[in-house]
Amino acid sequence: MEERNLTEPKPADGGNDIGRRSFLNGIAGAALSIAAAGSVAVSVEYLSPNVLFEPPTSFRIGHPEDYPVDSVTLIPEQQVYVVRIPAGFSALSAVCTHLGCITQWSSDTESIACPCHGSRFRKDGTVERGPAPHPLDHFAVRLMPDGNLLVDKLEIVPQTQLLKV
Ligand code: FES
Repeated sequence: MEERNLTEPKPADGGNDIGRRSFLNGIAGAALSIAAAGSVAVSVEYLSPNVLFEPPTSFRIGHPEDYPVDSVTLIPEQQVYVVRIPAGFSALSAVCTHLGCITQWSSDTESIACPCHGSRFRKDGTVERGPAPHPLDHFAVRLMPDGNLLVDKLEIVPQTQLLKV
């Protein structure tokens, strides 16, 4: 007659370790798959061109009638102010000439103020209060044949150059 040890529990898988082995194989396969996916991702990232996408330097800003006379309008994605005075249009850089902070137009004070160190500019770009050493840059503004205004940030123009419409 066969003797059985009743105090030692019988393994749930019936003493067969195939279940444990296949479980460990599954874990190892999953780990290898994750490692392979990670290295593919790194390789794709390495091979893709390292290009910095910037907004175009010349861009349309709408029609002249979109800008009331005596208005200052910030084009935020381009960091440019469109200034319309009775004599015409100008486009000013919103970048402070001190250390490059982005300025803010204030209709209360009728000036462009820099939040970083307190510089202040008039709406023609001239320095009202330092430490900014230079006026804001003026960009060329043109009227296109289709009636749109076009600003070209690559063309710096004198402060006195206005587009008369
Ligand atoms: S960056 Fe504008 S005042 Fe310094």
